[in-house]
Amino acid sequence: MTQDKKIAIGADHAGFELKEKIKPLLSEIGYEVIDFGTNSTDSVDYPLIAKSLATSVANKNPQRGILICGTGIGMSIAANKIKGIIAAHCCDIETAKLARQHNNSNILTIGGRITDSELAKDIVKAWLNTDFEGGRHQRRVQEIRDLER
Ligand code: RB5
Repeated sequence: MTQDKKIAIGADHAGFELKEKIKPLLSEIGYEVIDFGTNSTDSVDYPLIAKSLATSVANKNPQRGILICGTGIGMSIAANKIKGIIAAHCCDIETAKLARQHNNSNILTIGGRITDSELAKDIVKAWLNTDFEGGRHQRRVQEIRDLER
């Protein structure tokens, strides 16, 4: 693995319970976890959590993060508004791997109301353990970066 061993995680109220289940896994596999909240099931607006975590990841502090809301969709839409972020919403292991291999995603989003916690853990492991392939995908990722200008 080439990235540092720090990982950001954040969730809204709909993703809070899954966030709390994923955090111990991240610690077990050697990551220092930086928790951007929320810290209860009280209602909170997901774009605010996405903005806070994605801004840190865009500044490479840390290099990668995980965002969880009810569907995973709102978090990915919001995070992708931050320059430097490639957030991928993944519901299975194959797309989690491809979101690294082809897209070099730096944020993974998951739906806490959609994806069962055991599958979510497997998605997280697959995403963390898969490297970007570069090559033709580097050009395409650069073309995405160019859209930010
Ligand atoms: C909150 O009810 C829900 O809308 C949010 O967690 C997320 O699923 C939005 O995309």
